[in-house]
Amino acid sequence: MSDKEDDVMVIDEGSDVEGDSKKDIIKKDKKSPKKASQSPRKKEEKVGSAPGDNSNVPWIEKYRPHLFEEIVGNEETIVRLSVFAKTGNMPNLILAGPPGVGKTTTILCLARILLGENFKDAVLELNASNDRGIDVVRNKIKLFAQQKISLPPGKHKVIILDEADSMTEGAQQALRRTMELYSATTRFALACNTSDKIIPPIQSRCAVVRFGKLSDAQVLAKLMAVCAAESINYSDEGLQAIVFTAQGDMRQGLNNLQATFHGFGTITPDNVFKVCDEPSPLAVQQMLDHCRDGNIDEAYKIISHLWKLGYSAEDIISNIFRVCKSCAFPEVIKINFIKHIGMTHMRIAEGMNSLIQLTGLIATLCSINKK
Ligand SMILES: Nc1ncnc2c1ncn2[C@@H]1O[C@H](COP(=O)(O)OP(=O)(O)OP(=O)(O)O)[C@@H](O)[C@H]1O
Ligand SMILES: [Mg+2]
Repeated sequence: MSDKEDDVMVIDEGSDVEGDSKKDIIKKDKKSPKKASQSPRKKEEKVGSAPGDNSNVPWIEKYRPHLFEEIVGNEETIVRLSVFAKTGNMPNLILAGPPGVGKTTTILCLARILLGENFKDAVLELNASNDRGIDVVRNKIKLFAQQKISLPPGKHKVIILDEADSMTEGAQQALRRTMELYSATTRFALACNTSDKIIPPIQSRCAVVRFGKLSDAQVLAKLMAVCAAESINYSDEGLQAIVFTAQGDMRQGLNNLQATFHGFGTITPDNVFKVCDEPSPLAVQQMLDHCRDGNIDEAYKIISHLWKLGYSAEDIISNIFRVCKSCAFPEVIKINFIKHIGMTHMRIAEGMNSLIQLTGLIATLCSINKK
């Protein structure tokens, strides 16, 4: 296949490689503008439905931000990207960060601002649900990069490779040259959880933008806004419980909110922990209090109760850590507790996930204060 940049490829919709038509926006031919604008329209509606227009839509989609101003957290990163949006000159990008913090959302916002009404024609989005082996880079991505689309001066087509860390190394290698060859017309935006899964040559061609977990206050604020929009009954402790289970992941928070609402109608800590199936932090806090007081019998009752409820050692230990790090113990005690919780977590991660390990932990914790 020729690598010439000027080659114009006309892609037949029927012969498209994968079936995820929502994601695959490929302009056909200027002679058939109707068809070209029909299928992308569907995508816009799906990705960007306004709040309140469809009760069946999961809230993570219903409340997906469409503007930079609506994205919470990671302010510096968003400011950096909005500069690209203003100047219109976006470099190739890698957005790296934990799940559910707004990477995909941010790229879509950026592309929408950069391309405006051309968004549907000039964006190709591929995610982990598409096959993204070397053939897709050779065919689909290259074909899209080669297509001629009339854009205002200074604007580029955007290829979004979501969940890029799941691309095979071969595919990433094939991307190296493609990125350079079509740099005059096309920009790439890769989203991934860890940038070290992206091969160094690709990293060196991109500006890396990092996202961090969202703070509890940021998740809480969004949850409250959604509760107001959906007229949900909630108690403050209920929302705190959702924030606790979300652990800085907005997607998890919204999903847990919706699941609790649909399951029980009101958001209380009990309902939240039933739906999210996590050990109750209240019980864990009581257990830690008993450990601090050196009361091993009471502490053991709680841990064995959690064990009998069927929670895994991993669930319990990570919950103990989260409760301990935010509890109100004196610092010296807290430091010691966390040290031993960490050691037990390590042993559990190595496979020693028995009740004995957890009991050993509470025995150690009970003896700390006595010393
Ligand atoms: N910073 C944020 N502000 C507002 N809503 C957010 C934010 N981050 C995530 N969300 C909500 O969570 C949903 C999922 O976010 P998104 O798809 O952008 O996550 P992601 O960072 O790409 O995660 P992954 O790494 O799993 O792909 C969005 O639809 C939105 O509703
Ligand atoms: Mg994503």
